[in-house]
Amino acid sequence: MKTKSAKPKPRRHAPVRVAVIGAGAIGADHLMNFQRHPSAQIVAIAETDPARARAAAETFNVPEIAADWRALPGRDGIDAVSIALPNHLHAEVALAMLRAGKHVLLDKPMATNARDAARLVAEARARGLVLMVGQNNRFLPEVQTARRLIDAGALGDVYHAKTAWMRRAGIPRIGSWFTQKKFAGGGCAYDIGVHALDRCLYLMDEFAAAAVSGQTYAQFGPRGEGDGAWGKSEIDPSRPFDVDDLCVALIKLKSGRTVLLEASWAAHQAEPDVNGTQVFGAKAGLSLPPLKLFKNSKTGYTTELVNTSCGAPGDNRMTHFVDCVLGRAEPFVKPEESLAVQKILDAIYASAASGREIRLK
Ligand SMILES: NC(=O)c1ccc[n+]([C@@H]2O[C@H](COP(=O)([O-])OP(=O)(O)OC[C@H]3O[C@@H](n4cnc5c(N)ncnc54)[C@H](O)[C@@H]3O)[C@@H](O)[C@H]2O)c1
Repeated sequence: MKTKSAKPKPRRHAPVRVAVIGAGAIGADHLMNFQRHPSAQIVAIAETDPARARAAAETFNVPEIAADWRALPGRDGIDAVSIALPNHLHAEVALAMLRAGKHVLLDKPMATNARDAARLVAEARARGLVLMVGQNNRFLPEVQTARRLIDAGALGDVYHAKTAWMRRAGIPRIGSWFTQKKFAGGGCAYDIGVHALDRCLYLMDEFAAAAVSGQTYAQFGPRGEGDGAWGKSEIDPSRPFDVDDLCVALIKLKSGRTVLLEASWAAHQAEPDVNGTQVFGAKAGLSLPPLKLFKNSKTGYTTELVNTSCGAPGDNRMTHFVDCVLGRAEPFVKPEESLAVQKILDAIYASAASGREIRLK
């Protein structure tokens, strides 16, 4: 598919007129956060479920409901869209919106394969539009403070990291689109592994991988066990569970540094939810959350709890996106970074399927 060349669109003056596409579980979070921005105006909701659409429009005082996202690209009076749809629709909808000149906030994962993700990056760049994947973990005070400490040299040379999001019983409802490959693209790696990976690569300030070895498992979902309560879409119990509920990967970055990634929707483990990152440097190491610094030396071992209460932006990907559209900020999550994350996720699945290490260009 060729990218049309187009003049960069000047960014908007306030208000930024936003349409939210998908009013399911996370769509409500999109709506709530756009409502918080004094220069954002939510002008439409696109949602196929009429009752869900009506309820969201009433709660957030939205004047227009579209019964499907396809009604929006040709419509004037919309500057930006926020996409909270099942994964298989991300790339298609985002591409249509970018081609129609709309700025796009896209929930994770960016797409269901790196080829589609690359198309989005090219289209947004060619048109001068904001395209940002809503990696909310990056906005956390612990992550922000940790990145500042690493940039300031507190860890010395960083050479390795471990990052994980391991749930004990948190499959986002067996029988929903989340547990079917044709709608979700992948299982826990795409759903929560993406957060752990993105957060870790952001801390290391390196996104390009040289090689990936991965393995995936499905021990709980196929037996109907490990169910969680997330998501609003319909359930069809007859749908086969054909995605991963645990994944593990060793990622070698271009610099030679390494990342160990673990993600699970369901596992026999003590804690209900383990979601954190450890970064290892030559001078010190850190872990989060909570943010702690560790030093191991001839004179002994020290551990320090770091205060993260100052100067961090908080979980505000929607308000930040509006600021980007207004030209007040540059996207904090760059589309090229999300493309690199997508390439690694694809490589994990390719490695699991082939039993080999996947080398990336
Ligand atoms: N950033 C995060 O922390 C986070 C958390 C949860 C989910 N997500 C992501 O957000 C996306 C949505 O997840 P969810 O949990 O809200 O799922 P959900 O199933 O609760 O909601 C999806 C909504 O999309 C609607 N929809 C489906 N097809 C449509 C179409 N053609 N036009 C308009 N609406 C349509 C459904 O009716 C449903 O209401 C997923 O990609 C998921 O990975 C991100």
